[in-house]
Amino acid sequence: MSGGSRSEELFLRARRVSPGGVHSPVRAFRGVGGTPRFMTGGAGACLHDVDGREYLDFCMAFGPLILGHADRGVRRAAETALARGWSLGTAEPYSLELAELITGRVPWVESIRFVNSGTEAVMSALRVARAASGRSKILKFEGCYHGHTDSMLLRAGSGLAEAPLPDSAGLAPDVVQQTLIAPLDDEAALEALLTRHAGEIAAIIIEPLPANYGLLPQRPQFLQAVARLARAHGALLIFDEVISGFRLSFQGYAGVSGIRPDLTTYGKVIGGGFPVGAYGGRRELMELVAPAGPVYQAGTLSANPLAMCAGLATLQRLADGSVYQQLEELGARLERGLSGVPGLAIQRAGSVFWICSSRAGAPITPMRTPLSLPADAGASFAALFHPLLERGIYLAPSAFEVGFLSAAHTEAHIDTLAQALLALLPATDRQ
Ligand SMILES: Cc1ncc(COP(=O)(O)O)c(C=O)c1O
Repeated sequence: MSGGSRSEELFLRARRVSPGGVHSPVRAFRGVGGTPRFMTGGAGACLHDVDGREYLDFCMAFGPLILGHADRGVRRAAETALARGWSLGTAEPYSLELAELITGRVPWVESIRFVNSGTEAVMSALRVARAASGRSKILKFEGCYHGHTDSMLLRAGSGLAEAPLPDSAGLAPDVVQQTLIAPLDDEAALEALLTRHAGEIAAIIIEPLPANYGLLPQRPQFLQAVARLARAHGALLIFDEVISGFRLSFQGYAGVSGIRPDLTTYGKVIGGGFPVGAYGGRRELMELVAPAGPVYQAGTLSANPLAMCAGLATLQRLADGSVYQQLEELGARLERGLSGVPGLAIQRAGSVFWICSSRAGAPITPMRTPLSLPADAGASFAALFHPLLERGIYLAPSAFEVGFLSAAHTEAHIDTLAQALLALLPATDRQ
């Protein structure tokens, strides 16, 4: 269960100087136990650790690396940008090119603003929604994660899914009161909440493909009801596509589902692995943002040229759709390889997958709400995680994080993961 000796040594040092030894909680391996492997770098589908071990990576930096680690095209774009100077703090042409590419291909995103993370994108989109509506409450769904802005850290999934309490400490009560929480997969509960707070709700925000509490694909009818009810109650609809944007299709989950949100938030793939987030949507809403309008939002490092060029190179590769076709085939292969296996379920949407196991043998499909997850999902994942790690396979170190495929993965990589899991299951079941 322990990490390599260099990793252990570094983790000891890191815990002395940083909370939990990491800079984002899930990286600390709390959900699976043991010592996190300190990675020195990645290439293609592989990660390398400080002890010289190689891992076949199915976490892919939690989603941004849709083309794989150190993709040559993205690297070239970033290197060219680097040589020109890496921070300008001025108007520049690189963000314009990225903005034109996105708005030209995603018609419901008429105007877009780049920020530095998904969290910032969500925080800013909520501010726009409040300004546009003159209302203050935001409705979110249980198990959906929207980054770590205060009002969204309630029943949020991701790192909070394995935290001792479902909500973060340190939230001001008056901030918490502005957030309403509805269960996923339940039209009646949503309607009741909207009715109870008639005239108060600025926006409904949802991960259209909830992917932070395992993967909880919603019924199309439920998502359509969310859109219909938002409109009926005068609330804006925000699709948080930080994971699904440019990942499921260029147009994200909105493109797949046919539902048109008022505002969309992006992160991860949009920056090709560099720190980028964005929010965008209907022009009249985005025109509220400073300096065009009264909603203040700014950033010293926003639209950083290196990140813009890396994002542009990534999205240009994705624009003709062929990468999505390749990823769908790889995803389907993984799903075929693992379906029908007792004690294991795979949920998948394109190149996003989630492996859920239950040693208790409880039925584990279909799963659409956090409540429908097997109670032993966490423990049973940890029992798979470490033997996989020993075999050189790196999954995100938490039962509640999804896995990602990239264009650098091959059929052989998929088969390696499937076979390793199948080989482990009987042993795991016996525990
Ligand atoms: C759906 C969703 N929204 C927002 C965020 C926050 O993005 P970031 O970690 O870039 O702040 C995440 C991060 O995982 C996410 O999955």
